[in-house]
Amino acid sequence: MKQLSLRAHAALILCRVLNQEGSLASLASSTPESRSKPQDSALLQEICFGTCRWYFQLEAILRLLITKPLKDKDADLRCLLLIGIYQLHYLRVPEYAVVNETVAATQALGKQWAKGLVNAVLRNFLRDSANLLERANASQESRYAHPLWLIKRIRSAWPDHWEEVLAANNQHPPMTLRVNSSKISRAEYLQLLNQADVAAHPGTLAATSVYLEVPRPVDALPGSREGLVSVQDEASQLIPGLMLLDNGLSILDACAAPGGKTCHILESVRSPARILAIDNDERRLERLHQNLSRLQLSAEVLVADAGAVNDWWDMQPFDRILLDAPCSATGIIRRHPDIKVLRRESDLDKLRQIQAGLLDSLWACLKPGGVLLYSTCSVLPEENCDIVKVFLAHHPDAIHEVIQADWGVECGLGRQLLPLPDGNDGFYFARLRKS
Ligand SMILES: C[S@@+](CC[C@H](N)C(=O)[O-])C[C@H]1O[C@@H](n2cnc3c(N)ncnc32)[C@H](O)[C@@H]1O
Repeated sequence: MKQLSLRAHAALILCRVLNQEGSLASLASSTPESRSKPQDSALLQEICFGTCRWYFQLEAILRLLITKPLKDKDADLRCLLLIGIYQLHYLRVPEYAVVNETVAATQALGKQWAKGLVNAVLRNFLRDSANLLERANASQESRYAHPLWLIKRIRSAWPDHWEEVLAANNQHPPMTLRVNSSKISRAEYLQLLNQADVAAHPGTLAATSVYLEVPRPVDALPGSREGLVSVQDEASQLIPGLMLLDNGLSILDACAAPGGKTCHILESVRSPARILAIDNDERRLERLHQNLSRLQLSAEVLVADAGAVNDWWDMQPFDRILLDAPCSATGIIRRHPDIKVLRRESDLDKLRQIQAGLLDSLWACLKPGGVLLYSTCSVLPEENCDIVKVFLAHHPDAIHEVIQADWGVECGLGRQLLPLPDGNDGFYFARLRKS
């Protein structure tokens, strides 16, 4: 696969993401490049993810370089220009190669007429990049490379940390592993990595977490196929501990797919009385089945709407419920930078309704004395402590238990981890006990 096609493909992928035709992760992994040479695939991913990561800044720069806006039917060309500027500014690819390949990609897009335009825009950027960047960065959207509504929400939620959160969102995420403690200790697994010349260090929050110094394909890691290790962020590895798990308990994982936390729960508890994992997305549940089978674990799995308890609940109450709720995913933007361009402020109300509805419905399925852990990968209080607050006001039998910990921010109701460069993702937890 020639480099020419690679730039054109990157532009088309970006275009489809902006058109809301799918997530960046799925679109960028299903193109021909991803099946060709590994270095092409890596460059394609880097260009697509990087352009989304810096989209708001690249857009602001492009607006300064183009006097006449491009027509809607030339959205692919606009995307090609954005990826061109991204490569020139953020990648260590020789400038002549970026300009030549990006100009050549106009042909693959069927827009030869735009060769001169692409050439002029990229060369003008190179001639005056520092000045253009300074002018673009007069706007907050460009300076922080986030949509303005999200900057405002994060600033108002975290007045002392908002710039750190935005900066962490713009970094490459670390690759974090969860060691399967039912099969091998973390110290032993670190030795295996060392023997395989893979530089790594243990995480400080979760006893099962390991950070790789340099990301690499999971299949290339020792013991991955044998289920010794899975890829999972460190924050979410805190969940089994926060659920106060023990043998003999019946456990419900209410929004379970693709199953990272179900599998971790099963790795942590040798003999639960029962574990039921449900999700309303059948395709995502396929990945849960694959994960269970790779790790040689078993659980009852149901495709169901967790909120419609009458449809699936057998009236046997659970000792523990995990509600890892659907959310804005604003704590994992560095892993999914397309969130910045796809998420709308208006989504928040809808998400809040879903979160509150699920919490209300699932509460009926919890035993007296049982624990429900509410978690999200959001950094917005609207989806976190605000949901818990309203819930507590309507459920006198619910007791909020303070999570005693030396990590994160105590929120009054629940505890928040903010995304850390080279550390955990943003995550929220609240523990509720039924009286
Ligand atoms: C944050 S993800 C869960 C991640 C999962 N706990 C893990 O660790 O892999 C939220 C999940 O909620 C599911 N979901 C959304 N609404 C639901 C509903 N009404 N009933 C069941 N699952 C739902 C989504 O399909 C999605 O898989």
